Amino acid sequence: MVLTVVLATLLSISFADAAIPNAMLRGRPGIPQIPVPERPVTSPNGTALPPLTTVYYFDQLIDHNNPSIGTFQQRYWMNYEFYEAAGPIILMTPGETDADGYEGYLTNDTINGMIAQQQQGATVLIEHRFFGYSNPYDNLTSQSLELLTIQQAIDDLVYFAQNVDLPMPGGDNVKPDTTPWVLVGGSYSGALTSWTMVNKPGIFHAGYASSGVVEAITDYYGYFTPIREYMPQNCSSDVQAVIAYLDQIHAENNTAAIQSLKEAFGLGGLSHVDDFAAALQFNLFDWQSLQPDIGPGTLFFEFCDALEVKGGVSAPATGWGLQNAIYSWGSFWNDTYYAYVCGTTDAETCLGTYNTSQAYWTDVSVNNANRSWFWMVCNQVGYYQVGPPPGQPAIVSRILQPVYDERQCVNMFPQAFSSPPSPSVGEVDMMYAGWNVNVDRLFFANGLRDPWREATVSADGLYKASTMTQPIYEGDGFHCSDLITENGIVDETVHAVQMAGLGYMKTWLA
Ligand SMILES: *[C@@H]1O[C@H](CO)[C@@H](O)[C@H](O)[C@H]1NC(C)=O
Ligand SMILES: *[C@@H]1O[C@H](CO)[C@@H](O)[C@H](O)[C@H]1NC(C)=O
Ligand SMILES: *[C@@H]1O[C@H](CO)[C@@H](O)[C@H](O)[C@H]1NC(C)=O
Ligand SMILES: *[C@@H]1O[C@H](CO)[C@@H](O)[C@H](O)[C@H]1NC(C)=O
Ligand SMILES: *[C@@H]1O[C@H](CO)[C@@H](O)[C@H](O)[C@H]1NC(C)=O
Ligand SMILES: *[C@@H]1O[C@H](CO)[C@@H](O)[C@H](O)[C@H]1NC(C)=O
Ligand SMILES: *[C@@H]1O[C@H](CO)[C@@H](O)[C@H](O)[C@H]1NC(C)=O
Ligand SMILES: *[C@@H]1O[C@H](CO)[C@@H](O)[C@H](O)[C@H]1NC(C)=O
Repeated sequence: MVLTVVLATLLSISFADAAIPNAMLRGRPGIPQIPVPERPVTSPNGTALPPLTTVYYFDQLIDHNNPSIGTFQQRYWMNYEFYEAAGPIILMTPGETDADGYEGYLTNDTINGMIAQQQQGATVLIEHRFFGYSNPYDNLTSQSLELLTIQQAIDDLVYFAQNVDLPMPGGDNVKPDTTPWVLVGGSYSGALTSWTMVNKPGIFHAGYASSGVVEAITDYYGYFTPIREYMPQNCSSDVQAVIAYLDQIHAENNTAAIQSLKEAFGLGGLSHVDDFAAALQFNLFDWQSLQPDIGPGTLFFEFCDALEVKGGVSAPATGWGLQNAIYSWGSFWNDTYYAYVCGTTDAETCLGTYNTSQAYWTDVSVNNANRSWFWMVCNQVGYYQVGPPPGQPAIVSRILQPVYDERQCVNMFPQAFSSPPSPSVGEVDMMYAGWNVNVDRLFFANGLRDPWREATVSADGLYKASTMTQPIYEGDGFHCSDLITENGIVDETVHAVQMAGLGYMKTWLA
């Protein structure tokens, strides 16, 4: 099973040598990685094609507002094993990540390749500017990052489609004026699919947005709503008990009680209570790596088992209660989880966010997805994963408010920000329509258990209409589950979403 391999990789990551395993980035959106296909590919007539890992370079404009300053090399990959003359071009950027490693998205292991196979199209994977090795400048200083905006990213996709000569027979004659292009994306790149079709109509004939976080939101406490609703209820109850206790002793300024709580988790060395509250989020962020065939046995469920199963008996839905929860959650951190997150690094170095001299904040070398994504978050999209407003059940402490993240924007980019900045979400949602998107031939696919669902068109209470020209489908999946072919084999609701998407593509590309 494809995804089991991925899981093993995720679990084997050790953060021992990493700098700060920052809460803001642990819950970073992003499409799931699948293994890079090693198998040779052949064209429909049997000719061997270049390996899927072959890298191509496109001369992309550094600044679409000022083309005269020149170009940089933007990396891309492609596959034309299913291509027949006049077929569509299926384009995707994996978004906020080094694209090398996502070549599986060129094949029918993913929806991209399924569309290509069905429509005799070619697939192309393009790296997003300022990620991996597609950089206008050779550093990630604030000065260079001025050119990392949603608009420049949209303009890159458009300029690529309009100008690229694809390395395949007839590839110099497949521009959008003669050939239908389909833009596929997941997570942030799913939002970018919607934003591009809103902002530059008429270039991409059709779009497929999986878990597209179309609405930029500063105070994104909604991230934890699907987790709270779908996690084992006893585990949710006990987490809520500990969080309520933390918030209470914090409100009372009971420093002694806060210190003993930290110590129960083996985190007595962590100086700031907000960093402690952020560390407690980590167990919840593990939910994001779940997929239909990755469930029990993974870190998230290990965590709930540690809290809820005592001597082979599991707690009722109300949990075991506060005292047991502090003890069992604390022991899980102290005995297992701390080493997984921090290795042998001390708590303050590993989990603190106040020492701005640490390399984590100052390293400006390229291919640092965390830093580039931080820039986008601080300036435009927010999505700060904070505690909920009073009155709502909380599995995350209300100590965590947007300013916790905004303060770190200053740590990361002191040249750009002298005080905690608010991201310009209002402008983003107006420019690119957010939840109000209304374009032709755009398919939205979402998962009910996806923590990013509240920023998609399937957010609770939005009741956005699904139409023939802009259909919205939901399955029981997690984040971007429908992008992966295997998930449709495991979960029939995800399969139904994939089939609907393919059906619309057939109609729209006929
Ligand atoms: C980026 O952030 C993730 C999640 O916190 C962390 O695991 C990783 O080590 C960071 N990468 C770098 C280069 O700091
Ligand atoms: C077979 O396909 C390849 C790649 O599409 C093309 O270059 C070649 O000309 C084709 N050969 C024949 C005999 O059609
Ligand atoms: C996926 O593509 C490969 C060729 O790369 C083909 O052998 C296989 O049958 C395809 N899978 C499905 C389910 O169509
Ligand atoms: C970063 O790149 C910019 C643009 O090339 C250059 O002007 C600047 O000197 C570089 N800064 C550092 C610290 O490397
Ligand atoms: C209690 O937690 C266990 C372990 O995570 C889980 O298997 C079980 O379904 C939960 N039961 C209830 C009632 O929430
Ligand atoms: C909280 O308590 C500490 C020491 O117990 C004290 O120094 C600090 O001033 C108190 N803060 C507030 C806001 O009361
Ligand atoms: C944490 O683990 C250490 C050994 O690794 C042990 O000495 C200590 O008592 C533990 N603390 C708690 C609160 O479980
Ligand atoms: C802050 O980080 C720097 C760089 O890692 C380190 O040398 C210094 O000792 C740290 N300061 C404190 C107070 O921990």
